[in-house]
Amino acid sequence: MKRADPSGDAALLARIAERADEATAFLRRITDEFPAVAFASSLGVEDMLLTDLIARARLPITIFTLDTGRLPEETYALMATQRQHYGLPLQVYFPEHVALEAWVGEHGVNAFYDSVEQRRQCCRLRKVEPLGRALAGQQAWITGQRAEQSVTRAGLPLREHDAVHGIAKFNPLAEWSEREVWAYVDTHHVPYNALHDRFFPSIGCAPCTRAITPGEDVRAGRWWWENAEARECGLHPGQHADASSASAPVSSPIREGKAPQ
Ligand code: ADX
Ligand code: SF4
Repeated sequence: MKRADPSGDAALLARIAERADEATAFLRRITDEFPAVAFASSLGVEDMLLTDLIARARLPITIFTLDTGRLPEETYALMATQRQHYGLPLQVYFPEHVALEAWVGEHGVNAFYDSVEQRRQCCRLRKVEPLGRALAGQQAWITGQRAEQSVTRAGLPLREHDAVHGIAKFNPLAEWSEREVWAYVDTHHVPYNALHDRFFPSIGCAPCTRAITPGEDVRAGRWWWENAEARECGLHPGQHADASSASAPVSSPIREGKAPQ
């Protein structure tokens, strides 16, 4: 995906410099307030921006990722690049294998295409349960969510209380636009996932993510066979409880010949 070169836009460059300073100060205040802070990185572009801020300011924040076992190769390549580029440890959490093996044994490896309930169960086993282990012992966690990303994230606050894990949760990029994120990443040569240049603005597991067409919502390629209101994986429940209710469609991408492209 070709992006406009930000280098000639002085107003944009000034705005991202200010936003980056504010975000770094915000991260620093989180670490001042809480001794144990973790950052959940999917290695998406927003998370790479946050990783860059954390690395530059040498903030005492644990960076972790949830390896579902179904990630695209490009995401694993970026994990390796990140390690070389920043020299920062990345804590990788895998699904609990006994429960996952039982579920796959009963329903099949691609059962997430069969129904919304099976899809959510796969996300629970591969992401939500490992997230609980990643956050054990932490007092606050940080995400790369932005309000603009989807209907389910409108009104996203900078700070919230995660009632599920009983700790504070922060979304430092809540108010950033997609253009600002890319302007920062391009200006500072932050490494990013090669799929972003192939019309994948939002990247999750390989079988549940596809490219979008220009003009589509940035998360339109995630669980594209479901209603936009249902497209969350369970990592971020709470403020949008209505959106994730049972309004999900019964269609299957496989049955309807809409397999990943
Ligand atoms: S989500 O529906 O998969 O959660 P998205 O890919 O937009 O949506 O990610 C939003 C935020 O959730 C990321 O910025 C990151 O903080 C966290 N997140 C999502 N997937 C992962 C993952 N696999 N590992 C760690 N954090 C993740
Ligand atoms: Fe499973 Fe797809 Fe959720 Fe990944 S995104 S955990 S493959 S349902």
